[in-house]
Amino acid sequence: MILVLNGPNLNLFGTREPEIYGYETLDDMAAICGEVAQRLGVRIDFRQTNSEGELVTWIQKARGTTDAIIINAAAYTHTSVAIHDALKAYEGRVVELHVSNPHLREPFRHTSLVAPAADVLVAGFGPAGYGAAVAAAVGSA
Ligand code: DQA
Repeated sequence: MILVLNGPNLNLFGTREPEIYGYETLDDMAAICGEVAQRLGVRIDFRQTNSEGELVTWIQKARGTTDAIIINAAAYTHTSVAIHDALKAYEGRVVELHVSNPHLREPFRHTSLVAPAADVLVAGFGPAGYGAAVAAAVGSA
């Protein structure tokens, strides 16, 4: 089981800054994950929340019950020690995911607190990055 976690404002994909994030919705990205997962014979659980605490709780509950976490922590990527710590306590594979490439954007996006807890980084690949992240999560990338 692969848990795909999406953080704040990602429910607005499709209408939010489309010049950066494109016109695909989060449902479209869930569908991309589903297609790749089916092809690779794995199950996924796809979620979104605007709440930092909920992300932390979901990461904690993934311990011992999932094989990998794909996380687009959105703005919390750059601020959340709590998400960093929760991911450090997770024993499975961690894939950090961003639709855009934060390193090409504002300086405040150049630091990731997720990165030191991640095995793989997928960034700047657009919505297709969701599919790449599923492949990376199962080690087929
Ligand atoms: C993002 C990049 C973050 O810097 C930003 O806060 C987001 C989306 C991305 O997918 O490119 O909300 O994680």
